[in-house]
Amino acid sequence: MNESYEMLLKRRSIRAYRPDPIPDDVLDRILLAGKYAPSAMGLQNRHFSVVLNRTLMNEIVAAAEGNRAAFAPGHVPFYGAPAVVVLSAPKDFRHGREDCACAIENIALAAYALGLGSCYICSVLPGLRDASVEAKLDLPDNYEPYGCICVGYPLGAAPEPKRRRADDVSVLR
Ligand SMILES: Cc1cc2nc3c(=O)[nH]c(=O)nc-3n(C[C@H](O)[C@H](O)[C@H](O)COP(=O)(O)O)c2cc1C
Repeated sequence: MNESYEMLLKRRSIRAYRPDPIPDDVLDRILLAGKYAPSAMGLQNRHFSVVLNRTLMNEIVAAAEGNRAAFAPGHVPFYGAPAVVVLSAPKDFRHGREDCACAIENIALAAYALGLGSCYICSVLPGLRDASVEAKLDLPDNYEPYGCICVGYPLGAAPEPKRRRADDVSVLR
């Protein structure tokens, strides 16, 4: 199978990480892949806030809980990953959510290609949008977060993928 295609089937969401930091050059390559994701009208209307600070990660989780995000007891939303990339877009831009999602997916694939793991995280969105957190994300004026992805070196093997549905394609000839 073509290696690029195989990567699409093999990437998994990783939910346990080693604490090791990501070298700057590796992080740069992952972010570059995020920037090369498609964006509506090619406007690149999105911002990447790279959170490497565990205190800020904890503040995001605490703010999410303060805004009624319900985590199961003992749940660690970022799974111990050393980096979280928050994707934001202008509040009044109608394709902000899609642009952020495309960038996040590219980051996930780049991380996998470079031997790292990742997990798209939306559970903390109420925390990302808390004014106290937004103020620390270095956002351009009038931007708001749409999601984030944690990245790091996996602890242990990736889980087996769930079987894919067989009833979700219609081919219309
Ligand atoms: C929009 C979106 C939000 C997600 N939010 C979370 C999340 O908050 N926490 C989490 O552990 N996984 C989250 N995921 C990851 C999914 O649970 C995961 O992609 C799915 O179970 C399939 O597993 P796979 O990525 O290994 O194929 C999210 C995925 C997407 C696309």
